Amino acid sequence: MTAPLVIAIDGPTAAGKGTLARGLAERLGLRHLDSGMLYRATAARLLAEGGDPADADAAAACARALDPRDLDRDNLRQEAVGKAASKVAAYPDVRQALLAFQRAFAGEPPGAVIDGRDIGTVVCPDATVKFFVTADQDARVERRYLELKERDAGVDRDRVAADLAARDHQDTERATAPLRRAEDAILFDTSAMDADQALEAALTLVDQRLNP
Ligand code: C5P
Repeated sequence: MTAPLVIAIDGPTAAGKGTLARGLAERLGLRHLDSGMLYRATAARLLAEGGDPADADAAAACARALDPRDLDRDNLRQEAVGKAASKVAAYPDVRQALLAFQRAFAGEPPGAVIDGRDIGTVVCPDATVKFFVTADQDARVERRYLELKERDAGVDRDRVAADLAARDHQDTERATAPLRRAEDAILFDTSAMDADQALEAALTLVDQRLNP
């Protein structure tokens, strides 16, 4: 039996990981997991229970108790939940509680595209192909701003820029599974690409890795 094809996609907030991951999964016939949703669901559950994201034990209990309905909450994409997710994601017990699910997802044939912050470094260090997706700060702020504006016309661009910088800092500087490029990950800068161009370029790179 051939080993599942696993594509790991890591990178900072609003670099284009999610769109790229969904596109690759669709074109390659693989399943897709947005691992950030697990951290967002953990944070949303904690907030719904009236918990404090500064409470590591409460956050870990939520991660362990996570059930599929938590992934259906309608506030998962909200900025406040994203911020709380980044906070709870720094706790080792939260990360540990979410690890087995991600690895099991990756291990099921025919394979998966998983995007996040530590997929190529911690969750799937043996992934078939790894991408580290980046884009310059202005491009990322613009993308996040346009995304948030669709839901809230009054969103403030400076605030978006500050939140993004804070989240980058938190995700990069934490002690456990910080955001960093795996040594064998392809550095993939999407600053000057639209989503279609990024997808076609990534498909070419995957093909080159699979058929050297
Ligand atoms: O990607 P997204 O913005 O939805 O992720 C929310 C937060 O979850 C991130 O800021 C990060 O702190 C955390 N996360 C993580 N590891 C992952 C995916 C997300 O720490 N693999």
